[in-house]
Amino acid sequence: MSNPPKDFKIFEFSKENKAKIELILKRYPEGRQASAILPLFDLAQRQCGGWLPPSAIEKVTEILGVSLVRGYEVATFYTMFNLTPVGQYHVQICGTTPCMLRGSEDLKRVCKKHLGIAEGETTEDGLFTVNEVECIGACVNAPAVQINDDYFEDLTKETFLNLLEDLKGGKDIKPGSAVGRQGSAPLEPPHERHPREGGEPGDA
Ligand code: FES
Repeated sequence: MSNPPKDFKIFEFSKENKAKIELILKRYPEGRQASAILPLFDLAQRQCGGWLPPSAIEKVTEILGVSLVRGYEVATFYTMFNLTPVGQYHVQICGTTPCMLRGSEDLKRVCKKHLGIAEGETTEDGLFTVNEVECIGACVNAPAVQINDDYFEDLTKETFLNLLEDLKGGKDIKPGSAVGRQGSAPLEPPHERHPREGGEPGDA
């Protein structure tokens, strides 16, 4: 079993992130720096290994001069902020209708069977956390799963299991469509339209 996640009782941005914050704050008009709360939370979450501890929320609100309650309003509203520690691979399975109709329930069953974890749980070795999320905007290639920053699409039970096995084995995995299509392009060449298809009025 890996070390338990750090609790970050005290949070301080790294030197590198402090420099990034300076640049981020310059993107906002004078007096509007509070709007930088999302990119600053994102930086803090990445620095903490994928979650946003209370000390980091406090630090960001301090930097931006906003109330702590405003920080919590934002952090609890957006589901991309994790308020509890997550595994090295945060597997977010889209469970919204198109993905559900195309097999997202099967993908959840793969996690249960092969990783031994259900929705919201983390494997004992700290490698995987699984969550069901709402539409991640890849419906045309459903079912879709987000793992950390990457999308995996057109999945089946088999291809999803292979993906998890590769991650367990420390192998590189290729984001995108599991059936090899480019973007959301059809797999087959475009259907050639027969001259008579949809033909002229009066055609038999
Ligand atoms: S419904 Fe799953 S990506 Fe949109």
